[in-house]
Amino acid sequence: MARGVVGLFAFVAVLCSASADTANKRQPLFAYEENPLTESTLRNLIINKGVGHGDAHLFAFDDGSVLDPNRLKRGACKVFPGDAEWPSDEKWDALDQLVDGALIKTIPLAAPCYPNLGAYDVEKCTAVVNNFSIPYLHENDPTSIFWPLYQGRTCMPTLKPSAGGSECTLGGSPVYAINISSVGQIQLAINFARNANLRLVVKNTGHDYLGKSTGAGALSIWTHNLKDLKYYQSLEIPGYSGPAMKVGAGATVKEVYQEAERSGVSVLGGICESVGYAGGYVAGGGHTPLSGLYGMAADHVMALEVVTPDGHFRTASPEENTDLYWALRGGGGGTFGVVTSIIVRVHPKLPVVTSEFTLETSPTVAADTFWQGIRAYFELFIPFTDAGTYSWFMLFNNGNGSYTFQMTPFFAPNHTIPSFEALIKPWTDTLRKLGIPFTPKTVSHESFYPAYASTWAKDVMLNSAGAVRVPGNRLLPRRNWEDPVKFNATFAALRANSEAGHLFMGYHQAPRNRANVDNAVNSAWREAVAFIILAGEIPENPTPADVKRASEQLRNEIIAPLRKVSPESEGGGAYLNEANVDEPEWQAAFYGKQYPRLLELKKKYDSQEVFYGPTAVGSEGWEVRDPDEGTITQNGRLCRV
Ligand SMILES: Cc1cc2nc3c(=O)[nH]c(=O)nc-3n(C[C@H](O)[C@H](O)[C@H](O)COP(=O)(O)OP(=O)(O)OC[C@H]3O[C@@H](n4cnc5c(N)ncnc54)[C@H](O)[C@@H]3O)c2cc1C
Ligand SMILES: *[C@@H]1O[C@H](CO)[C@@H](O)[C@H](O)[C@H]1NC(C)=O
Ligand SMILES: *[C@@H]1O[C@H](CO)[C@@H](O)[C@H](O)[C@H]1NC(C)=O
Ligand SMILES: *[C@@H]1O[C@H](CO)[C@@H](O)[C@H](O)[C@H]1NC(C)=O
Ligand SMILES: *[C@@H]1O[C@H](CO)[C@@H](O)[C@H](O)[C@H]1NC(C)=O
Ligand SMILES: *[C@@H]1O[C@H](CO)[C@@H](O)[C@H](O)[C@H]1NC(C)=O
Repeated sequence: MARGVVGLFAFVAVLCSASADTANKRQPLFAYEENPLTESTLRNLIINKGVGHGDAHLFAFDDGSVLDPNRLKRGACKVFPGDAEWPSDEKWDALDQLVDGALIKTIPLAAPCYPNLGAYDVEKCTAVVNNFSIPYLHENDPTSIFWPLYQGRTCMPTLKPSAGGSECTLGGSPVYAINISSVGQIQLAINFARNANLRLVVKNTGHDYLGKSTGAGALSIWTHNLKDLKYYQSLEIPGYSGPAMKVGAGATVKEVYQEAERSGVSVLGGICESVGYAGGYVAGGGHTPLSGLYGMAADHVMALEVVTPDGHFRTASPEENTDLYWALRGGGGGTFGVVTSIIVRVHPKLPVVTSEFTLETSPTVAADTFWQGIRAYFELFIPFTDAGTYSWFMLFNNGNGSYTFQMTPFFAPNHTIPSFEALIKPWTDTLRKLGIPFTPKTVSHESFYPAYASTWAKDVMLNSAGAVRVPGNRLLPRRNWEDPVKFNATFAALRANSEAGHLFMGYHQAPRNRANVDNAVNSAWREAVAFIILAGEIPENPTPADVKRASEQLRNEIIAPLRKVSPESEGGGAYLNEANVDEPEWQAAFYGKQYPRLLELKKKYDSQEVFYGPTAVGSEGWEVRDPDEGTITQNGRLCRV
């Protein structure tokens, strides 16, 4: 090339980087994101670590060629321990070398309770038994999950192992996990799983309600230690300029709240402090006590860093990989790649009023009167949500003809006590007229965090890790309130459910699209004014038959009447992050109108089907061959259907 031409090119390049100031507007990276692997650095790493030539292909990026068409044929399964294709110890060692020794062979959390794995230790077992309901015990473990039902309950903590079967086995736990501290390790894990045809799972906190963060025979990417957090008073990135926080994949809701409070801002997060922030929460949409003012948490995510199923590290933002940006905000966790951090817009601090009280039947309050008082509350969901408020309540049928309703709490951001009291006056007037006593504890807080800390942070219901439950939910649309006939049918269904003896909990909230964004959040959320949480009743230490009974009861007797009054075709749906894994037609219920586009993007970004999760986009192509546990667990081979 002539000298002049080279000069011209250099000149243009300088001009470009100077004029299109995207160069200095790029997303900031955390230290662990600064050295992603590329074709050439991967090649060097393989050489430097002395990985044998024959094994190099196991770590290669996806070059777009189909690895083996038979892998996706009907009946084909991901490679499982014991199979001839299962990687040899030498190959696992090579992976361990490349990830700097971060590969961990799974020892189930409760292994110290059992004689068979060489980990027996009464003291350690006692600690696991005593602390099994503490979410952090599971978060701090590479593979343990919040709801053991999906693991297959093959290693439950017990001081008497002989009582429940004397062996601890891996069941639905992954075989290995990688304790992630850099993006390169995630790239290697994805490449290895794809090339060796292994099942891959992603675990952050392990809170997933459907067992999406575990899987038999899998390699797990454990993101828990990516705790970095950074606040920017003013951030300039493509598509956004303003105050923001960059959140690492392993930070919890509580850590994000505390950083926001320290920085003098508020941020959208959920009600459970131990839930992860940038993992499943945001991926599923993320409802929040501030949803009445701002919408879903995902609506405020301005960029994400992600390792895609081909092994490459990418930015998803309004200007880069825009379709991926769309999908990662609402399309569900563990589906399109591994998010390493997100940038979330933050908001000014605002005052919050919280109010907690109990309503109950008594000698002077008959059940029918009590239900009129509850109905008066439900009737106000439109004005309550229009006023930006949110609540969490629980309604107990005490089984002796008495009922208890606990408001824990009514949460009114940007309200003063007088404005809050004026808002709820129509309800409190009715309660007085009905003669239902109540003594609200109403408190005004300076900002979100103290309001949060003095209410949900002490809720024991949120501290129930290790419980064996069959959970489910329903999103009820505003139109069920606007039409009096529908409202009556809706309220009658809820009341009948409680009268039949079932616990019923829920929220009034309306995460409308207040930020006016286009993302993958389930369209049912945009119409909702109520989010109802349900559960199948289950005895202690249930047998598979008990679980099956509870699961069927939940589906057919508890959720079905609510689905009937709020079908998907009329704006109803369910929240994929707190859902029942046996939900029929989950595509419509969990993803609403977004499903067809999500499925297209799944095919585009994960054509080799590296990522799988029960009820995740595209999962209809797979099944887990688990033993009959009464519900879908992850304790079995993953195979094509
Ligand atoms: C007690 C309790 C209270 C809750 N309260 C709320 C609430 O107020 N609002 C709300 O919206 N939700 C709430 N949830 C639901 C919560 O949002 C989901 O359980 C969520 O999936 C948890 O995400 P995680 O990353 O902590 O959990 P995990 O179980 O570790 O992961 C969940 C899913 O996300 C995937 N995932 C995790 N990290 C990544 C990553 N970095 N990249 C890609 N995929 C990833 C996993 O593979 C899995 O599919 C609550 C849950 C519990 C148990
Ligand atoms: C776990 O239980 C033990 C008692 O066996 C207790 O001493 C310990 O403090 C508990 N650990 C945590 C983290 O709560
Ligand atoms: C995981 O890695 C971190 C460092 O990133 C380390 O502090 C921690 O002890 C490791 N945990 C396990 C269980 O290996
Ligand atoms: C019914 O049960 C509840 C909860 O156990 C109890 O508080 C209440 O006193 C009982 N009421 C009657 C009428 O027995
Ligand atoms: C909070 O209230 C103030 C004053 O009433 C109003 O100006 C502001 O817009 C409100 N903030 C939000 C987020 O709605
Ligand atoms: C709805 O129910 C209420 C109370 O039971 C009743 O008064 C009202 O007439 C009903 N409305 C309709 C439209 O059915």
